[in-house]
Amino acid sequence: MIEIAERFKSVKEYYFSVKLQEISKMRSEGIEVLNLGIGSPDLPPDKAAIDALINSVVKSDMHAYQPYRSGTELRESMSKFYENRYNVNLNSETEVLPLLGSKEGIMYISLAFLNPGDEVLIPNPGYPAYSAITTLVGATVRSFDLVEENDWLPDFEALEGEDLSKVKIMWVNYPNMPTGTNASAQLFKKLIEFGKKYNILIINDNPYSLVLNEFPQSILKFDTHKEHVLELNSLSKSFNMAGWRVGMVAGHKQYINAILQAKSNVDSGMFLPVQKAASQALTLPQKWHDERNSVYAKRKKIALELLNHLDCEVKPNQVGMFLWAKLPAHIESVRGFIDDILHNTHVFLTPGEIFGTNGNRFIRLSLCSTEQDFELAIQRILKWKAKELSLVS
Ligand SMILES: Cc1ncc(COP(=O)(O)O)c(C=O)c1O
Repeated sequence: MIEIAERFKSVKEYYFSVKLQEISKMRSEGIEVLNLGIGSPDLPPDKAAIDALINSVVKSDMHAYQPYRSGTELRESMSKFYENRYNVNLNSETEVLPLLGSKEGIMYISLAFLNPGDEVLIPNPGYPAYSAITTLVGATVRSFDLVEENDWLPDFEALEGEDLSKVKIMWVNYPNMPTGTNASAQLFKKLIEFGKKYNILIINDNPYSLVLNEFPQSILKFDTHKEHVLELNSLSKSFNMAGWRVGMVAGHKQYINAILQAKSNVDSGMFLPVQKAASQALTLPQKWHDERNSVYAKRKKIALELLNHLDCEVKPNQVGMFLWAKLPAHIESVRGFIDDILHNTHVFLTPGEIFGTNGNRFIRLSLCSTEQDFELAIQRILKWKAKELSLVS
């Protein structure tokens, strides 16, 4: 057997990749598992987007390799989307690059900017790919704390007290996953100020701005020269197109070129019918987003009830597709608690510690299941609790 590369000795398989295998094994044994953990929208994309794909896929001139930076139509739709949504002007030729989902953008940005020895500020808790990819490219993870007491915002004073001379990139993600903290102009201004002062590239990962959020913001609005900032965005959550793999990175043309240099050596462009569908989706009016959000809002109500039954504490005003909830003090192991729920009620919730040590008293619940599924999960949990109580007494 050939030994696997050293780099994978410290980067483990993605938690969900492992957990979903366990869930699908349970399902293959006939167990009806309710997955309330994963953030993959169950609602469909808009019909016009699907039609755009169907109508183009049957044409003979749709099947060739596509330009690495995708076609003009998609880039123009992305740039218009930024103008309409966030009041940010992007040159569609040079300042926006479509991606096969924003996750690959984390890799290409890291390849484009990081040398071994460079340090990267990574939020704890945060999306696990930031630290995994930083390690894979040989750079050094410097995690910074997001804590409940500071409303899950970076503590700039604490950061400024540290030696930042080797830090090249800082990942942020507002609206925040997993904590549901919203973005604000004040936060983005502070981040840019911090980036300029210490010559750090601030990258905001922004896939949740249109979900249950009245004031979508882009960090790009706050750095007119775009010298210390990049933004990732995605159609996965905002347009119910997670499986289609469409995202984008936006920013200064020199940075976009460097990212393209990385990307063009790895993938070979986006399938043209998918580009057509994405362009169509990006034009959807606010009404479409309002309808999606009203479905999530109804689910959120029942999800809050469910968390109440688990004696969890939930901060109000969370935005995005998840609820971040604090477990009661008597629970000792969050993973143990999650596994107990999974094996006793066949309901899967995400343990907060997979997002970092600061998440270790928390769980994340996704709103990507129907109201009926939430109701069913509540019934199962209540039944389980009653059984536990009867065993105790
Ligand atoms: C914070 C964050 N960034 C990026 C992604 C990846 O999104 P995409 O589907 O665009 O690759 C996710 C997906 O769960 C996410 O939660």
